[in-house]
Amino acid sequence: MQTITTIQQLRNALDPVRRVGRSIGLVPTMGYLHEGHARLVTTARAQNDEVVVSIFVNPLQFGPNEDFAQYPRDLRHDEQLLASLGCDIVFAPSVDEIYPEPAVTLVDLPAMSQVLCGRTRPIHFRGVATVVSKLLHIVQPDKAYFGQKDGQQLAIIRRMVQDLNFPVEIVGVPTVREPDGLAKSSRNIYLSQLERSHATVLYRALQAAVADVAAGQISAAMVIANMAALISAEPEVRLDYAEVVNAQTLQPMDRLSGSIMMAVAAYVGKTRLIDNVLLELPPLDSPNVP
Ligand code: PAF
Repeated sequence: MQTITTIQQLRNALDPVRRVGRSIGLVPTMGYLHEGHARLVTTARAQNDEVVVSIFVNPLQFGPNEDFAQYPRDLRHDEQLLASLGCDIVFAPSVDEIYPEPAVTLVDLPAMSQVLCGRTRPIHFRGVATVVSKLLHIVQPDKAYFGQKDGQQLAIIRRMVQDLNFPVEIVGVPTVREPDGLAKSSRNIYLSQLERSHATVLYRALQAAVADVAAGQISAAMVIANMAALISAEPEVRLDYAEVVNAQTLQPMDRLSGSIMMAVAAYVGKTRLIDNVLLELPPLDSPNVP
């Protein structure tokens, strides 16, 4: 495994790989890797000849009051983990390498970036879409891997790739969870022991929503109200949102049908956590829908 820090060196390393027809899988990350990332890398390893993992804490996706400077970083640990997972190239550029000048060209999908997490993080997904499009151009992978845990991000990247005809397949990888259901996240390290125990309410609320739908509930408002009540009742936890949206467009719906994403966000102490589950329901005109 080699660690590369410049775009030119990366292109020099990947051009011969591409010329002989070997497939390239890209796993974009911001580092401080955990088991969720490891699942992305092992999935990429199984499906490609060459695996590139990028580690870049992208300033463009952090708002003025967010944790860019404090975001945890540990390149040595990440390199060890990635070597053990069979990664071929770690691409760890500096901020100046990716943004030699302030970015003037930005990629934004306002209808999808201003909903859900976008209401409290208005510039976040523009930063994500911009850096992911740069990484896809720099690496030119056959496939790129993203976690379902960041469901809004994944939907936005899928749509960006479709709308702008990027020649890449986007692979969504299921969320990795702790035994009690808490989704693995780099932010979990900020939780105290007490907060950690309350944090499971996000997954419990989503499971309650799945049970509501399985019992025949098709009113989005009812499912949302139940999730919101469960999260709001949990000590140390402040609800940001509980929503049910179309999984592809991220738009809200009244009656549940088709591909849906049930998504929640909450502050546990000072730490903001998100989670979601996907469900595939019969279309509205189906004889199975009351
Ligand atoms: O999910 C992340 O870690 C980041 O948002 C990503 C996709 C690497 C872009 O910076």
